[in-house]
Amino acid sequence: MCSRTSLSEARLTTTAAHTTVLLDEAVDALLAGAGDAPAGQWVDATFGRGGHSRRILSRLSPQGRLLAFDKDPEAIQEAARIQDARFSIRHEGFRHLADLPVGSAAGVLMDLGVSSPQIDTPERGFSFRFDGGPAGHAHGHYPRPERRAVAGNRARQPDCGGDT
Ligand SMILES: C[S@@+](CC[C@H](N)C(=O)[O-])C[C@H]1O[C@@H](n2cnc3c(N)ncnc32)[C@H](O)[C@@H]1O
Repeated sequence: MCSRTSLSEARLTTTAAHTTVLLDEAVDALLAGAGDAPAGQWVDATFGRGGHSRRILSRLSPQGRLLAFDKDPEAIQEAARIQDARFSIRHEGFRHLADLPVGSAAGVLMDLGVSSPQIDTPERGFSFRFDGGPAGHAHGHYPRPERRAVAGNRARQPDCGGDT
């Protein structure tokens, strides 16, 4: 029996807010020993949906700076909502941390993995619940599902009427 949720149903159920894991614990650890309102440049190497970044900004002094990285275009879109002159983001992998001048970062936070919207968005092809196809794109531009259907990807799902 095939019980996968359709794409249109999924769109209705994937708008829930993203919840950042270990929000206080991670930011407390990052800023430990830096005083009440630290200055200096801090780095969020995996911006995601910005939970950690927003909390870090709330803790920095006006002289503090936060530089973020993420490879996901949707993370960059989310980052554009942060109107704070102390904040900037680079749409590139955190391997580019190596480009920063030695000693320029006071601390770096890395929250490794995927963010839940990457799993919940059917078109990205990571979802076990929603029928979005097997694309598996965390960071690139993913093809529209209709195009993948034309390419015949769905035929490889035997429990859902495929032919293998
Ligand atoms: C678990 S999420 C981070 C969630 C984030 N801390 C928050 O509060 O929303 C991990 C993020 O790392 C990003 N990512 C994965 N590999 C990356 C890489 N090599 N360089 C930069 N970001 C990467 C993913 O796109 C994803 O947005």
